[in-house]
Amino acid sequence: MNYRHAYHAGNFADVLKHAVLARLLKLLQRKEAPVAYIDSHSGVGLYDLQGVEAGKTGEWQAGIARLPANSASALLADYLQVVAALNPQGGERYYPGSPEVARQLLREQDSLQLCEKHPADFALLKDNLRADERVVCHHRDGWQVGKALFPTDEKRAVLLIDPPFEAEDEYSSAVQTLQDTIARMRQAVVVIWYPIKAERQLNRFYQQLAACGAPKLLRAELWVRPADNAASLNGSGLAIVNPPWPLEDDLKTGLPELLAVLDQGGGGYRLDWLIAEAAEPPAKTAAPAAKKPRKPRHAR
Ligand SMILES: C[S@@+](CC[C@H](N)C(=O)[O-])C[C@H]1O[C@@H](n2cnc3c(N)ncnc32)[C@H](O)[C@@H]1O
Repeated sequence: MNYRHAYHAGNFADVLKHAVLARLLKLLQRKEAPVAYIDSHSGVGLYDLQGVEAGKTGEWQAGIARLPANSASALLADYLQVVAALNPQGGERYYPGSPEVARQLLREQDSLQLCEKHPADFALLKDNLRADERVVCHHRDGWQVGKALFPTDEKRAVLLIDPPFEAEDEYSSAVQTLQDTIARMRQAVVVIWYPIKAERQLNRFYQQLAACGAPKLLRAELWVRPADNAASLNGSGLAIVNPPWPLEDDLKTGLPELLAVLDQGGGGYRLDWLIAEAAEPPAKTAAPAAKKPRKPRHAR
């Protein structure tokens, strides 16, 4: 386990992931019923962008640093408020990881379960989130969350699957974890984040997602450079199972807004359904007696 998110916090891929996470958590709050938030790969929860790690890559300069301090955009408003709350003096020095985005936006009746396997990052995660009584941190393998933590006591749940993608089999593991989850809780909202390097490398993953058996699955992607160079991270995507309404509409307007600020030349975006919602079955009322069709005038 070499990956440390502190080197990448606040980059363009984090911006897409955290903006969508913030928006969907907010949309779920239109109902009073509690929501369980589960993070399979949590990272440390909170990042100092003036720290040594972030300073070594400077990735956040092409990410959160390009965004305005606030925005009326449905996709960005809640996310930017979370960043602003961490930086009362302005700027974006302190950056929220996914656990902190969720912690700030969830309500008293909601809960958070955060998994992290790296011992040092787990210790930091616990330290950063410990003060909040709604939070439980697990030092465990995130690939087991579907079997271990679902179904949740709450009838509504959001699972973020955000592995480092250091190994080729993490795409299949992400789909397997998604399947384990919806097998136990079909209505769960599940979000898989994935990197886009060369787009053709993702074809098998798309096929696995399309065949995963979820009720519906929306794909949202944003790349900031042409997605044809396998050596570098050119963009990222989110596979979103059971997205709350109207997240799709928010993405329709939000993705071009994000591209306008994050594009490094040759960027683009895509929004489509890998699994479309099944059409409503016909209502089971007695059909009126069919009228005999009139013969068209010129029929023989
Ligand atoms: C991309 S980072 C997570 C970032 C975080 N979700 C965010 O958005 O702020 C991936 C994290 O997964 C952790 N990790 C790697 N393998 C894991 C596993 N099998 N189970 C749980 N955590 C793991 C890494 O230590 C790293 O902190």
